[in-house]
Amino acid sequence: MKTLLRLDSSPRGERSHSRQLTGLYTQTWQQAHPDGKVVQRDLGRQPVPLVTEDWIAAAFSNPADHTAEQQAAIAVSNELVDELLAADELLIGAPMYNFTVPASLKAWIDQIVRVGRTFEYPSYKGLVSGKTATIITARGGAGYGPGEAMAHLDAEVPYLKSILGFIGITEVAVVYVGSLAGSDEVRQGSLEKAQSEVQKLAAR
Ligand SMILES: Cc1cc2nc3c(=O)[nH]c(=O)nc-3n(C[C@H](O)[C@H](O)[C@H](O)COP(=O)(O)O)c2cc1C
Repeated sequence: MKTLLRLDSSPRGERSHSRQLTGLYTQTWQQAHPDGKVVQRDLGRQPVPLVTEDWIAAAFSNPADHTAEQQAAIAVSNELVDELLAADELLIGAPMYNFTVPASLKAWIDQIVRVGRTFEYPSYKGLVSGKTATIITARGGAGYGPGEAMAHLDAEVPYLKSILGFIGITEVAVVYVGSLAGSDEVRQGSLEKAQSEVQKLAAR
């Protein structure tokens, strides 16, 4: 039985294009994997905490020595890491915010990049092996794709690929959904193209 971990990082509900597309991906994936399990994390609407001083102290010390505050701070991270390690596939709905990921997604990343759990130190070897990821990135503007005019401003997909690769997830597919602030016709065309890409990827 396969497990899909779906992350949504838009704070928007039904208006969110990335969320509509992660929904379509999930639906198609469930048809292709009738016995599969979907675990959903709504980072946009129920954000995970930012790291704190207690979190940092706990992440880099022996659990046997943790204070009650440190135990509480690292418990969320342990749960999120366990959830990631238990998944076979990761699906990330990622709006572009100011050329990069929304803070809600960055907060999740800070919680799951953990020494001894998702990467090894000092070798910097990723410990999250045997998983694939799909990123669905929604943008108001256009031209950020590889080789396009705004590509140099995209600090989102290159960053997500780097950090996923760092923890060991190197098989990453990306669906770019641009021009969402364009005319109805342009937006519709962009969404239809993305829907077809999403359905193909989810049915793999
Ligand atoms: C705070 C904020 C920052 C944004 N920054 C960018 C940006 O840098 N580039 C861009 O093309 N669109 C930008 N947008 C537009 C969003 O990427 C676009 O509305 C996208 O559809 C949001 O995802 P969602 O529909 O899943 O909520 C921004 C939107 C917001 C609210």
